Amino acid sequence: MAIAVYPGSFDPVTYGHLDVMKRASQFFDGVIVGVLQNSAKSPLFSVQERVNILQRETADLPNVTIKAFEGLSVNFARENHAQVIVRGLRAVTDFEYELQMAQTNRVLAPDVDTIFLTTSLKYAYLSSTVLKEVAYFGGDIHKFAPPEVVKAIEAKIKQRT
Ligand code: PNS
Repeated sequence: MAIAVYPGSFDPVTYGHLDVMKRASQFFDGVIVGVLQNSAKSPLFSVQERVNILQRETADLPNVTIKAFEGLSVNFARENHAQVIVRGLRAVTDFEYELQMAQTNRVLAPDVDTIFLTTSLKYAYLSSTVLKEVAYFGGDIHKFAPPEVVKAIEAKIKQRT
């Protein structure tokens, strides 16, 4: 069984993330999406909310499961018997950080490798941060995330203002 984990903040999930999940699910028997619990950033959505959103948005991908995790991604990979960490690469600006992370992870866990999927061109500009910024200022975010995610973001922002 080839199992991959796809760790991230997913605060919230975008079409770019979902595209990576769908493509990874075609290569691996199982893909476990790991939602990082103890991010230093103060998230818009709680970890449970992010897990719920992801479960709903990946319901059509039977070999994708969603889990919250704390601590190191390599430990999350090992606990889930995954040989591979999947990450999306959008542009050269992602590269340095992703390379450093992949190399660190490889030193920590030589039995776990990282595979990058280049983000589909139509989502190359997209990030959760940009999505939230546009939403905060009342911009239309329907091109960035599925309708239920858009609703959840709008409700959350309303609650906070
Ligand atoms: O969606 P993000 O915020 O780009 O995801 C970053 C994430 C969660 C993959 C990264 O911060 C991570 O792996 N955090 C867990 C801690 C860890 O394993 N650090 C060692 C790698 S340098």
